[in-house]
Amino acid sequence: MRRIGVIGAGQMGSGIAHVCAVAGLDVRMVDLAEDVLSRAVALVERNLGRQVARGKLADADMQAALGRITTGTDYAALGDCDLVIEAATENEEVKREIFKQLVPHLSAEALVATNTSSISITRLAAATDRPGRFVGMHFMNPVPVMQLVELIRGIQTEQATFEAVKELAERLGKTVSVAEDFPAFIVNRILLPMINEAVYTLYEGVGSVESIDTAMKLGANHPMGPLELADFIGLDTCLAIMHVLYDGLADSKYRPCPLLVKYVEAGWLGRKTKRGFYDYGGDTPVPTR
Ligand code: NAI
Repeated sequence: MRRIGVIGAGQMGSGIAHVCAVAGLDVRMVDLAEDVLSRAVALVERNLGRQVARGKLADADMQAALGRITTGTDYAALGDCDLVIEAATENEEVKREIFKQLVPHLSAEALVATNTSSISITRLAAATDRPGRFVGMHFMNPVPVMQLVELIRGIQTEQATFEAVKELAERLGKTVSVAEDFPAFIVNRILLPMINEAVYTLYEGVGSVESIDTAMKLGANHPMGPLELADFIGLDTCLAIMHVLYDGLADSKYRPCPLLVKYVEAGWLGRKTKRGFYDYGGDTPVPTR
């Protein structure tokens, strides 16, 4: 593999572009608007700069990595990619529409992966012209730091496709864990109900934001509290994953907490909008409840 396309230049897309460029791959990143793309490149530059400051990357390698990333708003730019990784908003309709617009530009051999946190790989694969060459490649946030890539085969995914993305994940320095195609796979099947329960705990007044996060950090040895982590993931993404679990597994234990729904309706999406369970307007995050 030499050239990777990335669709969606949010927190995940920019992280995927970062690690691919550092590994020597050419990266074409596509999003809806130029300002999103320039923010993504600025974020990659800042994060690469941190790696240089910590002595983990040479300055020349940072410049070379940045030089390998190009951006645009037209899917035609992805026509010569060996693999396109879709990392757009966690919404099945959005992803289906992206694949519809993308596939006419791709070569017959190109592979397509989705970074979805929860949506059926089998169903998304069936929305393309190449279900055998389609796979789930679920990176963790923040991509340059987190070690895991969860790989998910759809029922139609060919072994060669799976092997190719496994090899790529390893080339990026990641460790692979394989999950079957069930709602939210492994990591989020376990993590999101815990986060949702933390929001219920807040909603029912069992504890404040600070008490809940402190309790889980010091009582369960989690590096981040569940509400802080929810803000980090994005509350819209958390809610979308809970809907997939609730709809896909038909069990009331996955019912999204009404408070999570309200926050998303208010546009309080966590760090990315500077407000979620914490307020990120100042130097340090301040709990809001
Ligand atoms: P985000 O909200 O930061 O970024 C999503 C990006 O997709 C935005 O820049 C948006 O403009 C773009 N987009 C929307 N529609 C588009 C279209 N039609 N064409 C091109 N770009 C489009 O979201 P984030 O957190 O980066 O999540 C992206 C994907 O990665 C989702 O599927 C999510 O479930 C998954 N994911 C998220 C993780 C997290 O911790 N946030 C972790 C692992 C996977």
